Amino acid sequence: MQTLRSRVAFSLLLVVFYLTLMPFVVHGFGMIGIGLSDDAARNSYLFADGQSVGNAAMMLHILTGTILVALAPLQLIRGIRQRYNRLHRALGGVLIALALITGLAGMTYIPLRGTIGGPVMSVAFFLYGLCLFTSALMLARMARTRNREGHWAWGLRLFWLALGSWLYRLHYTLWYLLTGGVGSKSDFSGPFDLVQNFAFFLPYLLAVQIWIMRNRSVHQGALVTGL
Ligand code: HEM
Repeated sequence: MQTLRSRVAFSLLLVVFYLTLMPFVVHGFGMIGIGLSDDAARNSYLFADGQSVGNAAMMLHILTGTILVALAPLQLIRGIRQRYNRLHRALGGVLIALALITGLAGMTYIPLRGTIGGPVMSVAFFLYGLCLFTSALMLARMARTRNREGHWAWGLRLFWLALGSWLYRLHYTLWYLLTGGVGSKSDFSGPFDLVQNFAFFLPYLLAVQIWIMRNRSVHQGALVTGL
């Protein structure tokens, strides 16, 4: 049974999460607005004249990615999982589709347009896209085969990867508040930027892996419901 204290703590975390997510969502939709405008290339480096595939991939990427981050935490709410299992499964399917599209669109954009931080950022973000895409595929497979441990493990991985872009911005915000931006440059070539290319997803994946190895025995058996 979840104690009242842990429920209150979880609800508070959710409120803080959504408050910090708001500026990110506003920024994302602002970028889509720019992408749809006639002078997109002049208003953002993300878009270029005559590059309709890259521009469309970026807009789709931002749209599905933003919805993905906003919806992902809802899967953790125990009450929904237990009382409204159909909703949990439907939302799970939507999240998997959003993760696949976000990852694919990002991985389409990178070879076409590169990234503002150059080759290291491009490699890191491509790897992030691959991890997100693979986790979504594996989670769907585990749900279909009713593999409870696999569903739990890949669900955890996908959850942290889905939060990756929010964590990336959170790391930067905290770092700038604490240090004023030591080791970070406007072209993303500073030591902090280089580490940050990987630090928003790899350490979290490692921590999740350790957690999975320590707790996997509790999650054996078959899933009551699949996708
Ligand atoms: C998980 C949810 C994600 C969200 C919400 C998201 C959101 C965004 C947003 C809002 C931008 C525009 C940034 C700006 O205005 O400067 C962006 C850029 C970008 N994203 Fe994502 N993203 C997500 C995941 C990913 C993944 C998985 C990849 C890797 C395939 C990726 C690759 C990129 C790239 C390459 C850019 C352009 C980077 C640049 O040159 O500035 N993103 N994303």
